[in-house]
Amino acid sequence: MSITKEYELTGIKKVSEAVAITLREMRNHSKPGMTAKHLDDLGGQILNDLGAKSAPRLTYGFPGWTCISVNNEVAHGIPSEKKILQEGDLINIDVSAELDGFWSDNGGSFILGQDLNKHQHLVDTSKRILQKAIGDIRGGVRVADIGQLIETEAKKSGYKVIKNLTGHGVGRSLHEEPHEIANYRDRLNFTRFKKNTVVAVETFISTRSTIANTQPDGWTLVGDKGGYVAQHEHTIIVTDGRPIILTSMNEIWN
Ligand code: CO
Ligand code: CO
Repeated sequence: MSITKEYELTGIKKVSEAVAITLREMRNHSKPGMTAKHLDDLGGQILNDLGAKSAPRLTYGFPGWTCISVNNEVAHGIPSEKKILQEGDLINIDVSAELDGFWSDNGGSFILGQDLNKHQHLVDTSKRILQKAIGDIRGGVRVADIGQLIETEAKKSGYKVIKNLTGHGVGRSLHEEPHEIANYRDRLNFTRFKKNTVVAVETFISTRSTIANTQPDGWTLVGDKGGYVAQHEHTIIVTDGRPIILTSMNEIWN
């Protein structure tokens, strides 16, 4: 969406705070032995208390309030009762929601407790790349240039990127124009970031895979060549200078 009126700014800020607080609290409350379902129910409760509705449930009928992807799961993991979180797990929580007709999206990967499986470098690299990518976005910048930045930085750190998962416009629905803010240089994408528009920028930094495939459950995405993926996502407003980070309360960079 493009923000032209005061109430639009107020609305997008409010829903962005709701998803950011929910993500932060879910991460803070996660602990070994907890089921993903339990953690998701907590997230659903917080969203509800803040007056927000789960976007994946509303838009796609997703079987959960939030997406919780663990270890080899790249994204859209189902927060099931059977998924029991363990020390050292690489966990990704993605929270998106609607509130008063405005939509926002954020997510982040983290290690549960001690880094028993040596995921810290991957997680830190993903955070750093998102920071750098967002720092370069302003009105007039080509979307493909940001994709190139993300892939170049990933390669420099010894990683790949997932090519079929992307950031996207957001605001009046979960996915809007520009539909694909890829993690690589898409030469055929000539679109540019526009001032005053709202976009969700997300990394998909990967140790081995470059494509994420849907599993038989119809939701969970897993890498084509295995390995691990870290994702960090903020919803931002594009300006003439540094973007306004609407979901900064999620503290994914801390
Ligand atoms: Co998301
Ligand atoms: Co998103």
